[in-house]
Amino acid sequence: MPIAVVVGMQWGDEGKGKIIDLFAEEADIVARYQGGHNAGHTICFDGQEHVLHLIPSGIFHAGKLCIIGNGVVIDPRALMEEMQMLGAAGIALDGRLVLSDRAHIILPYHGTSDKGRESGDRFRRIGTTGRGIGPSYSDKIARLGVRAADYEDEDRLREVLFANYEEKKQILKLLYGKDLPPFDALLEEQLGYRETICRFMADTGSLIRKEIAAGKKILCEGAQGTMLDVDHGTYPFVTSSSSSAGGACTGLGIPPSQVGRVVGVIKAYTTRVGEGPFPTELKCGFGEQLRAEGHEFGATTGRPRRCGWFDAVVARYGNAINGTRALALTKIDVLDKFETLKVCTGYKHGGKVYEEMPASLKVLENCEPVYREYPGWKESTVGVDAYDKLPGNARRYIEELSRLSGAEFTLISTGPERGHTIRLSGLF
Ligand code: IMP
Repeated sequence: MPIAVVVGMQWGDEGKGKIIDLFAEEADIVARYQGGHNAGHTICFDGQEHVLHLIPSGIFHAGKLCIIGNGVVIDPRALMEEMQMLGAAGIALDGRLVLSDRAHIILPYHGTSDKGRESGDRFRRIGTTGRGIGPSYSDKIARLGVRAADYEDEDRLREVLFANYEEKKQILKLLYGKDLPPFDALLEEQLGYRETICRFMADTGSLIRKEIAAGKKILCEGAQGTMLDVDHGTYPFVTSSSSSAGGACTGLGIPPSQVGRVVGVIKAYTTRVGEGPFPTELKCGFGEQLRAEGHEFGATTGRPRRCGWFDAVVARYGNAINGTRALALTKIDVLDKFETLKVCTGYKHGGKVYEEMPASLKVLENCEPVYREYPGWKESTVGVDAYDKLPGNARRYIEELSRLSGAEFTLISTGPERGHTIRLSGLF
């Protein structure tokens, strides 16, 4: 089947940008299915680093069509900035980028609401990116959202914006003491985006289904990761969308029966940003070493990422939910200097060992990880491009990760550049 989903297996930041950029070579279309500009996909080539938040990571390959699907929430301001950044890098977007007319829009009051909820002591902090993602998805589910299609007609846009503005004005004042700028300022800004939104907008579900029928190869790009999925992640410390592979069908309008392959992207250790349980977190020097060696600072917010050992409970759970049989392992080179490595195989809590992911926050927050230890390899793997060139202990560690996770590796990444890659099999 010519449709593959590439999905994050942990709490995001697995290095999906590089992997999708590599796999894009084999696809005709790269389509992003959820999230918004909370994501940060870093891609390095020719010695330059590019960070994308919204536009699919396939955009750097000439001739590939990039789609922002109906499951994505679009902040027009962020979209324009990214378009300008790509324009300045010499990448033409006309005919290469299409936005779904069913995608929901992030409006400035969504950001106000997100930051308001995160700032007060009275509310539970999630540690969000503050970009209005959750409030925009909340409006979508509450049937109050504004969609790209609403920008087609000026009167219609004014009407839907006004109804929402009036409600938000009262709620934001009451809850967070925030005053919104006047309605005319909101309308004027959004009218300024109309021409661009309308020029790039289409019924992308219909477009994708026609391309599938024509035998085109589609790469569905996930953002964030399985553990941040609103249903399957560490709720409520999650993002507000379906970031696991199932989200590709609803977020793009692809029938589930058409998806042939799911590849999970997984880092050789674990990180997370924001609040929430993280059983293998290292609050000691090893965590700081991982952060320093792996440059573990958020690509979107610059926040330091929390770091810890590889968690095979998370990996097995991700494989089960996503149906991944193949994994892309990233950042193995970050472990080059460690004497000993640990991998978590279960969580001990209340006299019981959990080998499957518990829903209970109480268990996740208070459990003791059960670890296996492995000797490090203490030599550089940066840029290694063939499996048998890896040190013996690195191969043994990788084989253990595969065995404990229950999936094969299709690719191993040994550095940020495109060439720093061991390819073991193709995407489709
Ligand atoms: P939100 O998506 O901004 O609402 O944030 C909800 C949670 O998801 C927070 O813990 C964020 O740090 C996390 N999050 C959102 N996007 C990403 C990402 O791209 N990588 C890692 N964490 C993310």
